[in-house]
Amino acid sequence: MGNMKLDTKPATDYQIIELLNLLNLSFENYLVPIHFDSSQFLNMLRKDSVDKTSSRVFLSGDQPVGIALIARRGWTSRLAAMGIVKGMRGKKAGTSIMKKLISEARERNDREMVLEVIEQNEPAVRLYKNCGFETLRRLISFIHQDTKQDAVNDLQEMDLRELGRMVLQFGLPDLPWQLSGETIASMTPPAKAYKREEAYIAISNPDVEHIVIWSLLVEPSARGKGLGVDILKSIIAHHPSKVWHVPAIWPEEFGFLFEQAGFQRTELSQWQMRLSL
Ligand SMILES: CC(C)(COP(=O)(O)OP(=O)(O)OC[C@H]1O[C@@H](n2cnc3c(N)ncnc32)[C@H](O)[C@@H]1OP(=O)(O)O)[C@@H](O)C(=O)NCCC(=O)NCCS
Repeated sequence: MGNMKLDTKPATDYQIIELLNLLNLSFENYLVPIHFDSSQFLNMLRKDSVDKTSSRVFLSGDQPVGIALIARRGWTSRLAAMGIVKGMRGKKAGTSIMKKLISEARERNDREMVLEVIEQNEPAVRLYKNCGFETLRRLISFIHQDTKQDAVNDLQEMDLRELGRMVLQFGLPDLPWQLSGETIASMTPPAKAYKREEAYIAISNPDVEHIVIWSLLVEPSARGKGLGVDILKSIIAHHPSKVWHVPAIWPEEFGFLFEQAGFQRTELSQWQMRLSL
């Protein structure tokens, strides 16, 4: 099992559909099934600020065999996705490409690189640790279904962009990328944001059966009064008979809010990691 070196090319040399197919192929046999369609892929690229110029396709000869999506905001880069096709894994190609991605980030004067990785993804966790990434916190996931909540109908709909501003002002400064104010401000209908007293929430399209919670915020002056739990219960009552998902990007220290609102913890968890450049 010798060390394998792969060439790389900017993702801008490829069509969106080629990148999408390569991404799906590179995540084959992943711990959680990942299969983007093109509208989900385009939405993710836009919402998460993925930079095609800095993203890379990996080549064996002239054959694309892997991909790294790099998102950028200010001085920070995020490894949004990295995968290698099945037959090429476990030969240190991932490690040598990661080192290259880090030196490219340094060359463009970025100050830090961040990522999230599934805790049980041993090769990936090892790879990132070997490259100097440090763990910031555990990110956990929840689900909620079936329970009836009493209706509390004082939710006021608001602009997601305005909620993004609130999260930037009052949220943790080191929130995972997908929960950050910049991401929330980039969300658009049919996703929705609501306010109830000094609490705020963002959710994916509530017209379908499965709904994702993307943001939950209580203004600092109003914390400790249960307003976060109340807005969760209200949103569930407002949209009855839905399955509610909190993806594995939620800081563990805030898990109690979901537990108190009747959510069940799910198995999937990630490490939020960071490398100072
Ligand atoms: C994660 C991935 C990119 C790593 O690339 P790779 O080229 O396979 O990784 P490497 O060969 O450089 O190995 C990285 C480390 O994991 C270890 N490793 C490799 N395969 C392993 C396995 N099956 N189980 C445990 N450890 C493993 C290696 O020994 C190495 O650690 P070491 O340098 O301390 O010995 C690749 O496996 C992949 O594409 N997986 C599917 C998609 C995915 O999980 N992406 C990451 C999402 S965050």
